Amino acid sequence: MNIPLVDLKAQYNSMKDEIDAAIQRVVRSGQFILGPEVKAFEDEMAVYCGTKYAVGVASGTDALHIALLAFGIKPGDEVITTPFTFIATAESIAKCGAKPVFVDIDPGTYNIDPAQIEPRITSQTRAILPVHLYGQSAAMERILEIAKRYNLKVIEDCAQALGAKYQGKKVGSLGDAGCLSFFPSKNLGAYGDAGMVVTNDPSIAETVKILRFHGSKATYQHVMHGFNSRLDALQAAVLRVKLKHLDRWNELRRSRTSLYSRLLSRIEGIQPPHIEKHNESSCNYYTIRLKDSRLNRDKLRKHLESNGIQTMVYYPLSLHLQEVYKYLGQKPGDFPQSELAQEQVLSLPMYPELSEEQIQEIVQEIKAQSQS
Ligand SMILES: Cc1ncc(COP(=O)(O)O)c(C=O)c1O
Repeated sequence: MNIPLVDLKAQYNSMKDEIDAAIQRVVRSGQFILGPEVKAFEDEMAVYCGTKYAVGVASGTDALHIALLAFGIKPGDEVITTPFTFIATAESIAKCGAKPVFVDIDPGTYNIDPAQIEPRITSQTRAILPVHLYGQSAAMERILEIAKRYNLKVIEDCAQALGAKYQGKKVGSLGDAGCLSFFPSKNLGAYGDAGMVVTNDPSIAETVKILRFHGSKATYQHVMHGFNSRLDALQAAVLRVKLKHLDRWNELRRSRTSLYSRLLSRIEGIQPPHIEKHNESSCNYYTIRLKDSRLNRDKLRKHLESNGIQTMVYYPLSLHLQEVYKYLGQKPGDFPQSELAQEQVLSLPMYPELSEEQIQEIVQEIKAQSQS
């Protein structure tokens, strides 16, 4: 048995001719930086996300960093976010010279707990940066309500949740801006790094465009310091092909998720993912929680690995405990739910091409380990 966490080769094989033709089109055109493919992809993504504007950049990390800069986040500012996420979320805040202010997570969804946001707001707070972890939207209604009351911007980290919906609306269109990642393992994955900022605000879209291209408004006319952070035309062409399949893939991920959860809920000590009623998850990861010591996570991972099943822990160390954030002065115990999750979560293989038989085999091996 060989079941990877993500199977990018299976996806390519299912659409090889279309992808190869798109790559050829760009290579023959000789236009590799921005140009018509990128513009077309941006237009298609704005429609897909339900926003007025979409601006392609070089990665999801750059999307976050550039979006924060576009909103004027600067040294001395504070931005509220979750400690249970990939480093890029907090890193992008710190790279603006601002302070990441962590708020613990809701133990059911692993997303920022809106009930704990208000006490962390100070006169320096400028924005809230919720992450839609594993594909499920954060509790946006309450987050937006708090942001409105305190006049804060809301920048969504949608890296894991492209296509997910909250109360019927796509993530990325809920706050002031949404940041997307097309890292190869995401629901819409490029063949390299790529990212995007989506927004309804014309001045933010314009500033992101300026920042991604060395701060230039027109050729060799620089109005600020920016970045070399453009979305490659080759990546845009690949992503345009894949975008047509995204909703179907997300639907397949949801059906795989349901099957996993139905089978795993019969095994004691395992908590399948909890999806809130008003959420439609993009199911980027299938993440279980090992609730008691009956199933030791390391032992289970080793057992699955020895049977050819790949797993991953997203994330084994909350950001507030990372060496890089020592300067924030936080210590173990400060965010108990995040710290509990880092000990208990385990992500199992998840991709649209994963077969029902493979899921049954994975569950069978988990069951065997739980009974040993
Ligand atoms: C939650 C989250 N935020 C940000 C990023 C950064 O995206 P990228 O790898 O495209 O820079 C990722 C993914 O890697 C992510 O999972």
